[in-house]
Amino acid sequence: MNPDVKESDYLMPLEVAGLAFRNNFVVGSGPAVKTLDMIKEIERWGWGGASLKLAIDPTYISKPPRYRWLKKHKYHAFTAETRLTFEEGLRLMEKARKAVSELILYANMAYAGEQGDEGWIRMAQKYEAAGAHVIELNMCCPNMSFNVESSGGRTSVVSGASVGSQPDVVSKTAAAIQAAVDIPVFVKLTPEGGKIADVAKACFDKGIVSSGSTGNRLAIPDFDINDPEQGICHLQDEPTLACFSGPWIKPLALRDVYEMRAKCDPESMVMGSGGIEKWTDAVQMLMCGADFVQICTGVMIKGPKILPKIVKGIRQFMAEKGYGNYRDFRGIVVPRITPTDRLTLYRGHAVVDEKKCTGCAICADIGHCYAITMENEKAQITLDDCTGCSTCTDVCPVNAVSMRKFERID
Ligand SMILES: Cc1cc2nc3c(=O)[nH]c(=O)nc-3n(C[C@H](O)[C@H](O)[C@H](O)COP(=O)(O)O)c2cc1C
Ligand code: SF4
Ligand code: SF4
Repeated sequence: MNPDVKESDYLMPLEVAGLAFRNNFVVGSGPAVKTLDMIKEIERWGWGGASLKLAIDPTYISKPPRYRWLKKHKYHAFTAETRLTFEEGLRLMEKARKAVSELILYANMAYAGEQGDEGWIRMAQKYEAAGAHVIELNMCCPNMSFNVESSGGRTSVVSGASVGSQPDVVSKTAAAIQAAVDIPVFVKLTPEGGKIADVAKACFDKGIVSSGSTGNRLAIPDFDINDPEQGICHLQDEPTLACFSGPWIKPLALRDVYEMRAKCDPESMVMGSGGIEKWTDAVQMLMCGADFVQICTGVMIKGPKILPKIVKGIRQFMAEKGYGNYRDFRGIVVPRITPTDRLTLYRGHAVVDEKKCTGCAICADIGHCYAITMENEKAQITLDDCTGCSTCTDVCPVNAVSMRKFERID
């Protein structure tokens, strides 16, 4: 263990399917988990688990990596990625299992051949023999057949997100694999297809221990309008649908986790990933219902050293709030999320603090508001015209506007 990291900076233990995790945090499968040295570093910084880079059998669409970290837009986008061959995955797992003592190792794997469940089972059994603690079925990657189909191409191979939105197919395959190995099978899902909660539920109903996630989302990154036929990645010609991750994706990931938690058995172990960078992000993910949190982009950009700060922040938060265990606040917002037709709303209006108002008139430009005028270089609110929407509180650069709250609207 890294002498710079105290136990209190990483320990938040949980036991799942007989496996002792040091904490709920797993480095998500990706380019930061593809060598033995990387895995050793992940262990050294105290992570609960590491999901090794996807091994796919037989290998297809494995290319040199092409990434962009567009920090101004708060997203990471990749267009091409190198996958491990099955043999490479097995060798890495064998070496990793010998090299680490506390890290829980996930075999992130996908079968893309013609043997159906038999092919998946064969891979899982070999990974089990190689020392994997967990089999993680990759039913999420949108950068393989799903990308091809989404952008007008054709392929006879069906893998990743193309399979992942089918509750019956995913749960049947997962259950068949689980019956064939003694280690737990976790399923990593996709929100592409809009059925992530249905798929998670189908898996849990068939006895799968953990499923969840927002893997990457396919989208078109911001491109140069003066050169629209050129893709945004260096060393690449054409534009393509890219795999998005990082902070931009977090609100969608929170929603996915919320939907899974709301639909699935309270004891089911939900995994959430997508845009987690700070301890506050992680608390939100846990509060929306996650048990495990996976982080990929955060580790790609800043390295595995981000973990102690995250766990330390959560532990301090728990101490302040009197929580003894993450389960005390896991899913806490789920029952509070209210359908829009049943929201509790209050009458009220905006108020300008004239001492703070600089007279910049930014609020007077709001296109949907007739209530704000400028008088003597101060914003004035005509109360009868104020609908209480509160946009002015957000556009004011000096926080000169607040909302006054009155009685509840029935
Ligand atoms: C470059 C890159 C490669 C990835 N490769 C894999 C992979 O091999 N297997 C997998 O299950 N997820 C893969 N992912 C998805 C991540 O593990 C993670 O679920 C997703 O990026 C959202 O989390 P994040 O915002 O923390 O990155 C990859 C993500 C990125 C950015
Ligand atoms: S709350 Fe909405 S309607 Fe009222 S002043 Fe502000 S922007 Fe205008
Ligand atoms: S945006 Fe704020 S500072 Fe500017 S005029 Fe409106 S209230 Fe005043």
